[in-house]
Amino acid sequence: MAQTSSTAVPHHIAIVMDGNGRWATRRFLPRIAGHQQGVGALNRCVQACIARGVGVLTVFAFSSENWNRPPDEVSGLLELLALSLAREVPSLKANGVQLHFVGDRQRLSEKFKAGLTQAEQATEGNQRLVLNVCFNYGGRWDIAQAARKLMQEGSEITEMALDRAMALAHVPDPDLLIRTGGEMRISNFLLWQAAYAELHFSDKLWPDFDDAALDAAIEVYRNRERRFGQTSEQLGADSKKTAMKAA
Ligand code: IPE
Ligand code: IPE
Ligand code: MG
Repeated sequence: MAQTSSTAVPHHIAIVMDGNGRWATRRFLPRIAGHQQGVGALNRCVQACIARGVGVLTVFAFSSENWNRPPDEVSGLLELLALSLAREVPSLKANGVQLHFVGDRQRLSEKFKAGLTQAEQATEGNQRLVLNVCFNYGGRWDIAQAARKLMQEGSEITEMALDRAMALAHVPDPDLLIRTGGEMRISNFLLWQAAYAELHFSDKLWPDFDDAALDAAIEVYRNRERRFGQTSEQLGADSKKTAMKAA
């Protein structure tokens, strides 16, 4: 979808919420305790994004590859999502959050799928913040499913058509992509949509990612020059033109 060139508050922030396991291990706790803390950090981040006027928050909660973790961690994460839905949806609804689950639902149980759909329906009229929770999601899965959809429709495969068939077609591309936990990789997140996102890597483990860390990331973003393939001089000329028009 269309990119924004404004360097004010990013309209769309995407986050790889990494570091829950290490947060717990450092405290001699089971890894699932880190994931539980991670839900709290996400709640705070949602509030902070609303307060700062962010329009879209997309978070990576469970990757296509996370099924390869020990079975007890996988079942613990599935349970935690089901529990968090029941617990958090009323306040998300009251806070104007429109919830979307993005990812492959085929492998999920009927009960689980129904829970996701109900949560989406309960919040569909909300406009303050779009929250995309990427669950059983992978950037490669998204590109493949979009291409499959177009093939089945008999549509030509163009960038624009693929864009429309992607799982995040309801929002513009992310402006700022944050990864917490210190790793400097994408891990199969938003491979298509992050083409021109500004990247920010934070050493904070996700449960410790607080308002100050979010503000620091936004500040870094505001000081970046987004060129989208143009030169600095062209951008300078464009902003002069805009200023002249406004005068
Ligand atoms: C991110 O935290 C959450 C998920 C991948 C579900 P991790 O569980 O990957 O935490 P670390 O990277 O092991 O510390
Ligand atoms: C990425 O974190 C996935 C999520 C945050 C849900 P991982 O912890 O799975 O990524 P790798 O394995 O370190 O690349
Ligand atoms: Mg990790």
